[in-house]
Amino acid sequence: MIATEVKDSQYFIELEHHFGAHNYHPIPVVIEKGEGIFVWDVEGKQYFDFLSAYSAVNQGHGHPKIIEALTSQASKIALTSRAFHNNRLGEYEKFITEYFGFDKVLPMNTGVEGGETAIKLARRWGYTVKQIPENQAKIVFVEGNFWGRTMAAISSSSDPSSYAGFGPFMPGFGLIPYNDIDALENILASDPHIAGFMFEPIQGEAGVVVPEAGYLQKVRELCTKYKVLMIADEVQTGLCRTGKMLACDHEGVKPDILILGKALSGGLLPISAVLANDEIMLTIKPGEHGSTYGGNPLACAVATSSLKVLIDENLAENAEKMGVIFRERMNALMAKTNLISAVRGKGLLNAIVIKPFGNKSGWDICLMLKENGLLAKQTHGDIIRFAPPLTINASQMHEACDIIESTLLSLNK
Ligand SMILES: Cc1ncc(COP(=O)(O)O)c(C=O)c1O
Repeated sequence: MIATEVKDSQYFIELEHHFGAHNYHPIPVVIEKGEGIFVWDVEGKQYFDFLSAYSAVNQGHGHPKIIEALTSQASKIALTSRAFHNNRLGEYEKFITEYFGFDKVLPMNTGVEGGETAIKLARRWGYTVKQIPENQAKIVFVEGNFWGRTMAAISSSSDPSSYAGFGPFMPGFGLIPYNDIDALENILASDPHIAGFMFEPIQGEAGVVVPEAGYLQKVRELCTKYKVLMIADEVQTGLCRTGKMLACDHEGVKPDILILGKALSGGLLPISAVLANDEIMLTIKPGEHGSTYGGNPLACAVATSSLKVLIDENLAENAEKMGVIFRERMNALMAKTNLISAVRGKGLLNAIVIKPFGNKSGWDICLMLKENGLLAKQTHGDIIRFAPPLTINASQMHEACDIIESTLLSLNK
């Protein structure tokens, strides 16, 4: 029975439990509002948001310029479908393609649809340009990848909690270890039917796994050598999160297909984009791919504004600087406690790895952090990702690090 007298956190949590599918296990906090780097729960308690909706809120909650773009466009027209043209799509397409240096963009909604689109493009290019025999095209992925929950996404997953019990799976997918250039060369050399290699430049859900320096450049070289499309899933790493506009920029490489999502809307609505040059993009003809909401005028206005905020507010630079402070503080903390086994990340996509201790896990630490006013979420049990909005300043970063430090040191006693 759900008590309806007091609409407190418990009430909302029970409602969700009772009426919603049990496909998530959230930290027990009920958020009612957000502004910048902070959120507030229904009891009015303030928290640092150190998840940013899995890096969708890079520009901070409720950024006034993006809200203005949203509301002014919503009051004119939000959705036309692609059965008709609209006066926002072309200008957005011009802006995003010129900015990222690709011939064309294909607008979708969620990140996983971006991944699906990239795979369809790679297969189609494989048949029409690379001349792979019909239905033989393969896409190679890496272990630990995460790009969503559709059948194609879980078919490429190495994580049983993603795929187990959902078969049969999509054929034509291969899996190699991440950060292993020899494995990539071996598979590309052994199979002329490979159309694409899809990977994250830093693995987010896997626990912020940063490949060795030079990995991205070597991937680029091998993909070119074997005529395989390099597909960078920058849904989480892109848009200034790692201290550059794209994580690929750290090594000065350009993928053949770039997938963006999450912060492309500043956290306001699902917007994703797939960018590629004409040789790839024009292999898909009218009626062969699309989405009712993809490229809607509201999304175009919001995405344009979200990109401009990232550029105008130098959020890549700030992410780089604040990330240095964060890792310095966490490395100093690692020296003071025996609870942390690793600190890793780039820009403001970081994680600490918790050593096994007693019966406590990353989840318990996240609960304690929540009590102390900071929201974060563990991944794979023992890894805690810290990814605040990129608008955070140095004193706020120190205050947040103080919370993490005192929380972990309290467990050391
Ligand atoms: C790297 C990466 N790609 C794709 C996705 C899927 O995005 P969405 O949840 O918007 O479908 C995610 C989501 O976390 C992601 O981290």
